[in-house]
Amino acid sequence: MLPEILPRPAPITNDEYLARRRALMAALPADSAVLLPGASLVTRSRDSEFPFRQDSDFHYLTGFPEPDALLVLLPGRPEGESVLFCQDRNPLMEAWTGIRLGAEGAVREHGVDQAFENAERDERLEAMLDGRRTLYLPLDSPEAMAIAEEVRSALAARARQGASPPAALADVAPLLHEARLIKSEAELALLRHAAQISARAHVRAMRTARPGLAEYHLQAELEHEFRWQGGSGPAYASIVGGGANACVLHYIENRAPLWDGDLVLIDAGAEFDLYAGDITRTFPVNGRFSEAQRALYALVLGVQERAVAAIAPGVTLAELHEGVVRGLTEGLIGLGLLEGEVQARIDDESYRRFYLHSTSHWLGLDVHDVGGYRQAGEPRSLVPGMVLTVEPGLYVPDDEDIPAAFRGIGIRIEDDVAVTAGGHEVLTAGVPKGIDEIEALMAAE
Ligand code: GLY
Ligand code: MN
Ligand code: MN
Repeated sequence: MLPEILPRPAPITNDEYLARRRALMAALPADSAVLLPGASLVTRSRDSEFPFRQDSDFHYLTGFPEPDALLVLLPGRPEGESVLFCQDRNPLMEAWTGIRLGAEGAVREHGVDQAFENAERDERLEAMLDGRRTLYLPLDSPEAMAIAEEVRSALAARARQGASPPAALADVAPLLHEARLIKSEAELALLRHAAQISARAHVRAMRTARPGLAEYHLQAELEHEFRWQGGSGPAYASIVGGGANACVLHYIENRAPLWDGDLVLIDAGAEFDLYAGDITRTFPVNGRFSEAQRALYALVLGVQERAVAAIAPGVTLAELHEGVVRGLTEGLIGLGLLEGEVQARIDDESYRRFYLHSTSHWLGLDVHDVGGYRQAGEPRSLVPGMVLTVEPGLYVPDDEDIPAAFRGIGIRIEDDVAVTAGGHEVLTAGVPKGIDEIEALMAAE
């Protein structure tokens, strides 16, 4: 029998993309304009390219899936406020790489007011931007900057004929990223789905794990599930680290054998309709935690569960992190891995020998999603619609002064959590993290 195929959530509608563009324009002065390029193909080797991945900001405002496009927003323009430049229709290229929507298709399928092929871009942009005072664009995009400078020079050269180039450039990113930080119901449905697929993938890897396999076998199980459920693949390079490889935070070689008696740490998530899942689970290769593994795991789990339970509007990520650091430091002292008073070990940061990353990040179209972590210089309060990870860990170095049973153990437990009016929703509850639950799942045939 074929494995279950989950129903797909609804895609983001053109009405929602339009509402996002309007909200951005409403926040800008009337005589401004926005320039936002999409992503281009990137060479992988010689004439093969990496699979295309649209730029997240561009996707957020358009849903347009092709490379080499440019969105121009022109608040108040009578002929249309949303203009898209895109690849031309080209029967020969389309025979090789697939149908292109072209300008007509872009208007028809994506609901922009006007679209033109890229060949018309420079000339049309000049006319469109003539008289706009401020040009909003991603200031860190060399491509956007080059387009802006070219248009400004062309308009400046015609100043005597009355042309008026935009006098100022401004960063569009802060406004756009604040909007992306608060997820709509449709976005939450996609994130929930990405999380659910990711959770199933982790269950599959847990069921498959055993001594004699290699890290890449578990990676193959994970990524099979991502694609089986219609995800585009991993949202970031999957991390499968057996034994001490778990202590390398971004270990992605995934080549080593899995040894009896070791733990394996998997940090992997699916991308679905460009939204990311991001889950970490750590479990014994042979299905049974040793005493030392159990002690460290129970410490991380308790701290992680308390942090998740605390999530509600008004709480800050800094408070969650402080709670995690305090809990881990107390536990490390209890296990004899740190000495002295809890506050002293927090103050001198000696806990950082075992835990050096932060506890949370925003999650959305990007796995480390956009949006400020501070507001007016202070850690910002959570509000409904934010989605974050909670991912404390412990990574014990292989050092002589550490009791041998603890050396080289790396543990992280990571869930994805949406903030709701009444508290929170854990999106990744579909994969177990309790010691007994993991052992039971791994023991089952
Ligand atoms: N997988 C990257 C992270 O957990 O932040
Ligand atoms: Mn992760
Ligand atoms: Mn993460």
